[in-house]
Amino acid sequence: MKKFWSILLASMMILSMTACGGSETPASSSSSEAAPASSSEAASSEAASASSEAASSEASAETADVPTMPDVSNVDMAALDAQIDELAAKVTLANEGKLVMGTSADFAPYEFHILDNGVDKIVGFDVALGQAIADELGVEFEVKDISFDSILMELNAGTIDLGIAGFSPTPERMAAVDMSCLYYTGGQSLMIRKADADKYTGLSDFGAGKSVGAQTGSIQEGLAKEQTPEAALVSLQTVPSIIMELKSNKIDAAYIETVVAEGYVKTQDDLMILCEVPFDAEGSSVAVKKGNTEMLDFVNAVITKVVANGDMAKFVEEANELSTQAAG
Ligand code: ARG
Repeated sequence: MKKFWSILLASMMILSMTACGGSETPASSSSSEAAPASSSEAASSEAASASSEAASSEASAETADVPTMPDVSNVDMAALDAQIDELAAKVTLANEGKLVMGTSADFAPYEFHILDNGVDKIVGFDVALGQAIADELGVEFEVKDISFDSILMELNAGTIDLGIAGFSPTPERMAAVDMSCLYYTGGQSLMIRKADADKYTGLSDFGAGKSVGAQTGSIQEGLAKEQTPEAALVSLQTVPSIIMELKSNKIDAAYIETVVAEGYVKTQDDLMILCEVPFDAEGSSVAVKKGNTEMLDFVNAVITKVVANGDMAKFVEEANELSTQAAG
């Protein structure tokens, strides 16, 4: 009897873990905040756990769609592997035998180009995650480097299988495509030239007459409009071109993802981060074609696995190393 309950409990936990707010299955945690989801409710008694599951799905009805990091405090790896295999069998691909990830490879350490023995290669922790997803499917893997603002269109057009490009899961995007659990969390920053350090103290210094840069189609464009509405917004296709404009005095500041900004600060003496920029959809999700629940559930299960077994942390570490080497 005891065994029956523990199996039931374990399978419920796996189900809820692979959901994490992205699919119809209610998330086990009612937290939509950054606070890590507590697993203690599931670990308490069977009865309490069953009823707290019901209660939390009600409590989280409004926020259930906000992706969070998967709760990996209590993962049964063998059961998760079995579930990944089951889910993999249901996945259909745009091109048989090949998983195609769409990205905009201008965003170290997420995705960027390096020269590997003279050969151009796209690397980064998003690419490593895409490769892990392809490996779990047992198919070939291809990275398609396209402009950031066309990735979600290509996804819904069915020309790529996944969009992995440091996508922040905003309500607008979640209406257009399906977004996975978070696989990474990070914030937003405003960058300036070091030479201007004395001129500014914060966002309020960027009023009329100032110009700020952001990538076309990114949430940074929205941040610029919200946080510095008087400043002129300069939208550019790629992050390196925004950095160039900043370095050459064409714009006064740039909205950049914090970890990306930190990478530039490490290698470019003339740049600095002025301040953090508040944003409520922190972190990155994988984008899946709207309504493709088979793919979404599978991707969520793989994300749960790589977060739980430490692979994701390794991908991030490796990407950070590669990006400093590439720039240095
Ligand atoms: N996190 C931001 C967004 O979702 C920026 C992502 C930019 N990604 C890229 N590969 N350039 O809009």
